[in-house]
Amino acid sequence: MDNPRLHLVRGEGCWLVDAEGRRYLDGNASVWTNVHGHNDPDLNAALRAQLDQVAHVTLLGLNHPRATELAAELATLTHGVLTRCFFTDNGSNAVEVALKLSLQHWQLTGRLERREVAAFAGAYHGDTFGTMALGDRGPFHARFEPWLFPVHRLPAPAHSECAGRVARSDGSASLEALARLLAERGERLACLVLEPRVQGAAGMVQQPPGFVASVADLCRDHGVHLILDEVFTGFGRLGALTACETEAVVPDFLCLAKGLAGGYLPLAATLTTEAIHQPFLGRFSEGRTFFHGHTFSGNPLGCAVALASLRKLRALLASGRPEASAAALGQALLARLAPHPNVREVRQLGLTAAVDLAPAAGAPAWSADARTGYRVCLAARRHGLVLRPLGDSLLIVPPIAIAPPEIDHLVGAVEAALREEFR
Ligand SMILES: Cc1ncc(COP(=O)(O)O)c(C=O)c1O
Repeated sequence: MDNPRLHLVRGEGCWLVDAEGRRYLDGNASVWTNVHGHNDPDLNAALRAQLDQVAHVTLLGLNHPRATELAAELATLTHGVLTRCFFTDNGSNAVEVALKLSLQHWQLTGRLERREVAAFAGAYHGDTFGTMALGDRGPFHARFEPWLFPVHRLPAPAHSECAGRVARSDGSASLEALARLLAERGERLACLVLEPRVQGAAGMVQQPPGFVASVADLCRDHGVHLILDEVFTGFGRLGALTACETEAVVPDFLCLAKGLAGGYLPLAATLTTEAIHQPFLGRFSEGRTFFHGHTFSGNPLGCAVALASLRKLRALLASGRPEASAAALGQALLARLAPHPNVREVRQLGLTAAVDLAPAAGAPAWSADARTGYRVCLAARRHGLVLRPLGDSLLIVPPIAIAPPEIDHLVGAVEAALREEFR
């Protein structure tokens, strides 16, 4: 099957323009990163201003003012509870760092038995070996199974909503499994990692409201570190700066990347508490140092853009536009896509959505090689929309600044693509 590459040469707000001048709405937010649209004048100005000062200095043993300022800004996300910030340069690293910090923390505090970890079915936390081990052993990582350390795997809740209309909702089996695990292994668990409210790469698999708070309560009762991976859900995706804020939860570790620098530059941060940080201090000879140094960790250009993006995002969220666009998205999906005979389910929460495609009732199964989801995305391209499928599921993740009329274009393009593919 043809795999035509689009050569995108320019960005204008939520739109991308190809070499022939054709315009496409960015329905993938450039792999879930873009916040304010492309070529944003405020982010561009922040980037240029930093460029006139210094493009890169290492955080290994040195520092720069933008990192200090950004770390202070990020501490406000948890109202000053997670005050310690470790910068890296991508989402996998943000989670890898949280995992390593948790394991080292228990070693440094003499709790050597706390070395086991737990994660959820369907989880995706990145592509390094540590994060592959935390992730589901499905198609992305199964090949590397022999080299992955064991993880207690908990069932993910079954929840599905769109435009606030709940089709099914059950987090109890998940919570019972977690309670059982904690009762049996609680003293041996170092940490549990969770993508709060929506598991993006699982196909926008949702959790019922209150689920994250219940997980946090259970972890706290057993002294197990809670790592929230908000690489995808952070920075406005679910209507607030973080998903944990919507659940009134402050985890032990908060992992941020993707939208942190507005979708401009690779930047990531792992936040944690003063109490977890404390045991890492001591005389050099005690060997308490946390060794995890990437060359471009906390790059000043990324930090400068992140500061500008965060300032602008607070105003954007306060304007109510992302909320209006999320409502428009949910309603349009329900009204215009859900009734299609090849749509099995639509799920939407904030500016995240999945449209699961399937053969019409009674029709034979689709072969994997038919790549139906991908074909629909190619058809959507012809209608001015860039989308990325997950198998036969269409994942819809627009920039946070998308306006309701652009949502109309987005859903209209998917509608037209379905019409074309399933004539
Ligand atoms: C929840 C989550 N965690 C971690 C990652 C990995 O981020 P990166 O691709 O920047 O390494 C992703 C990427 O999609 C993600 O969705």
